[in-house]
Amino acid sequence: MTKAKIAGVGFHVPENIITNDDLTQYMDTNDAWIQERTGIKERRWVTRGKDTTATLAAKASRIAIERAGIEAKEIDFIVFATLSADYYFPGAGVILQRELGIADTEIGAIDIKNQCTGFIYALSVASQYIETGMYKNVLVVGAEVQSMALDLSTRGRGIAVIFGDGAGAVVLQPTEEKGKGILTTKLHADGRYAEKLIMPVPGSHGGYHNDALETPSDWNFSDEKWGNSFVNEHMLKNAMVFPYMDGQHVFKMAVTKFPEVTKEALDAVHLKVSDIDLFIPHQANLRISQFVAKRLGIPLEKVVNNIQKYGNTTAASIPIALAEAWEAGRVKEGDLVCMTAFGSGFTWGSALVRW
Ligand code: COA
Repeated sequence: MTKAKIAGVGFHVPENIITNDDLTQYMDTNDAWIQERTGIKERRWVTRGKDTTATLAAKASRIAIERAGIEAKEIDFIVFATLSADYYFPGAGVILQRELGIADTEIGAIDIKNQCTGFIYALSVASQYIETGMYKNVLVVGAEVQSMALDLSTRGRGIAVIFGDGAGAVVLQPTEEKGKGILTTKLHADGRYAEKLIMPVPGSHGGYHNDALETPSDWNFSDEKWGNSFVNEHMLKNAMVFPYMDGQHVFKMAVTKFPEVTKEALDAVHLKVSDIDLFIPHQANLRISQFVAKRLGIPLEKVVNNIQKYGNTTAASIPIALAEAWEAGRVKEGDLVCMTAFGSGFTWGSALVRW
């Protein structure tokens, strides 16, 4: 049976390094607090006007395309995971298609909005097209520019110190080699927790406070004087255009769901935790990754951690970590690579790949 294999990987991060000390010019924070809670030492931010989510994605994609041994015009479909597209609409997939200079091929492009689990969802969707024989070269991308959506005042420090910008890409191709390629993907969501990690504006919700959902009490924009638009002055003043996170709730769910879905994926293909050669957790927080590895019994030398350098790059974190590990020679022919993510939605998922 035809499976999808990862034929090429690539990543790109902006050159602009922002250290924890650099953040102290905007907010009351310090290197010790950030490192102790998250493991992050620095992150990358784009230079405004120079890069966007799609231009970062194009740089990562060109590397992945070359490594797959094809030309950009041979790509026959794009699956783009991001929560920070260049525009509210259209999606980032079409901008990436244009950036790659292949708009005249008129290939399809879809956007996936599943936050930190976005790349796992994207991989799952893309692999179905390969398995059914519909497409032969699918470009799968995770890219984010989050630095422009952070509240850099002390009010936003709980979130602003965590997130970074970057892009990772893979090219999927069919393989008939027995036991190779994407063996399985498992995807989950629980919308009851949608407001636990959220950027509410711009959106049709309109920013109303809801007791039942335990939304922050200062979300109250029912007053008609604010008009009927996605964004108004009152929302800007009250930080609703910035992400909100119940950090402790996210932490607790993440450390449960990461191991659960990893085991579910392994069970589906009759493999064990000890069969994993490389574990690539979404780079949410170094403490979460260490906790999850310990709970699963995966030795730390099999776990990829690069959050120290890039922060949490949401949908880009897994493909960046995969490409970086591949470049370092940590992914070898025949290896079992396990990628698992958890994030806003809540959404979570796992993908198992035999290289
Ligand atoms: N620098 C210094 N102090 C900070 C700070 C910062 N950047 N951010 C928050 N603080 C302060 C808070 O104001 C609070 O002070 P107070 O006790 O005087 O009110 C104190 O530190 C503790 O804040 P709290 O939010 O309770 O910290 P925490 O121990 O829960 O750690 C996280 C916060 C975000 C690091 C932690 O909850 C976490 O890692 N959650 C998971 C987040 C995650 O992975 N998200 C991505 C999911 S994909």
